[in-house]
Amino acid sequence: MSNNYDLLLKNGEVVLPDGISEVDIGVSNGKIKSISQPSNASAEKTFDCKGLHILPGVIDTQVHFREPGNEHKETLESGMKSAAMGGVTAVFEMPNTKPLTTTAEAMADKLNRASKAAWTDYAFYLGGTQHYAENLGEWEKIKGVCGIKIFMGDSTGDLLTASDTELEAVLSNGKRVVAIHAEDEYIMQENKKTILGNSNDVKLHGKWRSEESCLSATSRILNIARKYNRHVHVLHITTAQEMELLAKNKDIASVEVLPNHLTLNAPDCYDKLGTLVQQNPPIREKHHQEALWDAVRNGTVDIIGSDHAPHTLDEKNATYPNTPSGTPGVQTMVPIMLNHVNEGRLTLEKLVELWSSGPERIHKLSTKGKIAVGYDADFTIVDMKKKKTITNEQQYSISQWTPFDGMDVIGWPISTIIRGCIVMQNDELSSMPIGKPVEFIETS
Ligand code: DOR
Repeated sequence: MSNNYDLLLKNGEVVLPDGISEVDIGVSNGKIKSISQPSNASAEKTFDCKGLHILPGVIDTQVHFREPGNEHKETLESGMKSAAMGGVTAVFEMPNTKPLTTTAEAMADKLNRASKAAWTDYAFYLGGTQHYAENLGEWEKIKGVCGIKIFMGDSTGDLLTASDTELEAVLSNGKRVVAIHAEDEYIMQENKKTILGNSNDVKLHGKWRSEESCLSATSRILNIARKYNRHVHVLHITTAQEMELLAKNKDIASVEVLPNHLTLNAPDCYDKLGTLVQQNPPIREKHHQEALWDAVRNGTVDIIGSDHAPHTLDEKNATYPNTPSGTPGVQTMVPIMLNHVNEGRLTLEKLVELWSSGPERIHKLSTKGKIAVGYDADFTIVDMKKKKTITNEQQYSISQWTPFDGMDVIGWPISTIIRGCIVMQNDELSSMPIGKPVEFIETS
């Protein structure tokens, strides 16, 4: 007798759109075929998930891999391996590579490279600049593009769209997601002279890259979004003031937060880790972190992404401010956030909203983001009780470190399943690189 399914997930606690239940999931041809009470159905492979939670695949909508141009920090392959090891089933990668991903040609090159090394599903952002603004409406439709990314303030790489004129040029073209790095370049340039000066103190990072600079950039982009009636997705928010403003503008803006900003705070993190935790926008004081948590719980925040931004330890250990900003994070996002669930800061259902249904809703994904019949069979299977210590040695990133080295957590990814294929199980990669471009409703 032939099997009913290719893969059957049995006895797990499944996070469905309407709550958590113990159901069996049958998978055929990479799609979810059935969600049902336990039965005697047969399958080529049965995965006993007793004691485990089955989540929709975790989609990390903000990672910086470094290929092309800085492969000594990360490659597309090492980045996607890290993602799969961390329970992430799809990644959206940023355009501040070398050359910048600001043209159709650079995008074609990245897509070609990714197709040969994809351990997860993937999509890429196009960099939004005034120079190519008129091409964006056409290029954003390339298969495998997840949207446009704008840097309003200078960060890693040479992508900068600082003035209102440039921002208007980008926002008035195209209709896909525009993701915004909101730090005001003009305020920061001034602060660099008046606040940072010749200092080598990393504790000034959050002072010259100031709260005012973030609030100014966020309010400027909201005004431009209204003027052109264009939705904006404002990334990695760090201040209480921006959250208050964004809460009043949910009709035109969606919001992302990062595990680093929810977990680490100033000044302690700089005392302990110095330039290792230097990132843009900076990790700030506890009262800002509390405002971020409030915004997670009250619905202001739509998405959590890792902002995986690897640099080597040598580069990070240079003298501030000659140190690059950013930390790796794609492999640690799941355990860090499950630990927050176990510590009572948010529910597992809320977390699934932030890293699966949020990406589905904001980016208009065709068949990813929830466990439902007909959807891609992407799952992140986790053990909510597993105690582990996060270490540098576990990291698959070429940079091979994490700001969470030595941290004890409860909650760990046990398996990463992508379109029915078990890509990671029990901290080991299995199978082959089977990743494909993510599909979007708006371009199909
Ligand atoms: O800290 C950061 N690092 N912030 C960014 O916006 C870019 C990132 C990187 O690419 O290194």
